[in-house]
Amino acid sequence: MSAEPQAALVTGAGVGIGYALARAFALAGAPVALNDLDGAVARAAAERINAEAGAARVTAYALDVADVAAVRAMTAEADARLGGLRVVACVAGLTNYGSFLDYTPEAFDRLTSVNLRGSYFTAQAGARAMVARGVKGRILLMSSVTGLAAFNNLSAYGITKAALRHMAATLALELGPHGITVNALGPGAILTERTLADDPHLEANWAAVTPTGRVGYVEDVVAAATFLASPAAAHITGQTLMVDGGWTLASPVPQAHPAAPTGGSQLK
Ligand SMILES: NC(=O)c1ccc[n+]([C@@H]2O[C@H](COP(=O)([O-])OP(=O)(O)OC[C@H]3O[C@@H](n4cnc5c(N)ncnc54)[C@H](O)[C@@H]3O)[C@@H](O)[C@H]2O)c1
Repeated sequence: MSAEPQAALVTGAGVGIGYALARAFALAGAPVALNDLDGAVARAAAERINAEAGAARVTAYALDVADVAAVRAMTAEADARLGGLRVVACVAGLTNYGSFLDYTPEAFDRLTSVNLRGSYFTAQAGARAMVARGVKGRILLMSSVTGLAAFNNLSAYGITKAALRHMAATLALELGPHGITVNALGPGAILTERTLADDPHLEANWAAVTPTGRVGYVEDVVAAATFLASPAAAHITGQTLMVDGGWTLASPVPQAHPAAPTGGSQLK
């Protein structure tokens, strides 16, 4: 996987898609600020990537993206340390299953504070740093197929992921004059530590209902994200690039698996 060497901040990057993206930027030679809520996970991820890169390119930042003051401090520190952020990837997101009839205000508030407020103010902090330096940067948001197709027991999550698609569109208008692009990724079921733990049959379940005949891998999302972050994508903004093997074209749901809450295999 190749990526342009450009200073990047990636949130929610201790494991999964965020980790793979931070790793791709670092292995391409970029300095990277790697954020995760879990400090031990963040530090271990940074150490692993630095060992693989053979250079100290990744700095760990342990904080909750729902904490706007902490996000602002991290972004300012990373911008100064890395010599000007060029890419800010808001990957951190919570996935809370729950039937609409039972969903609690507490779960709703936590979910929206991470998925929406966290992404919005991380993007804002990154954009402010880019504007201050005159950097024609890239902001990436992490939507999902569940922001396009309705899915059982993911109402609140799906609403936040739909909002992230619209966030890309609206921020693109305001940041376009600064030369900053804003795009979202719309992954389908992606094999990560979490989704595999949720459904041990994830690969087979999604292979059966996905037009390309397989589940998604983190490399698929990284390929799309590094393209959108590259100079080649300078004239693409406000878009959501689905990375779903065509799943949203018809959106068939796998047969219920015991690990799934109800209504099908885990879909994030
Ligand atoms: N995996 C999938 O199938 C899939 C599909 C579509 C979209 N997504 C989205 O991609 C993103 C990453 O998902 P994933 O499955 O790769 O990883 P994940 O959900 O397992 O989480 C990755 C990391 O994010 C961290 N994190 C959680 N809350 C945080 C917070 N408030 N602040 C900072 N870090 C936080 C976690 O500690 C974890 O290490 C999420 O936004 C998710 O909604 C995932």
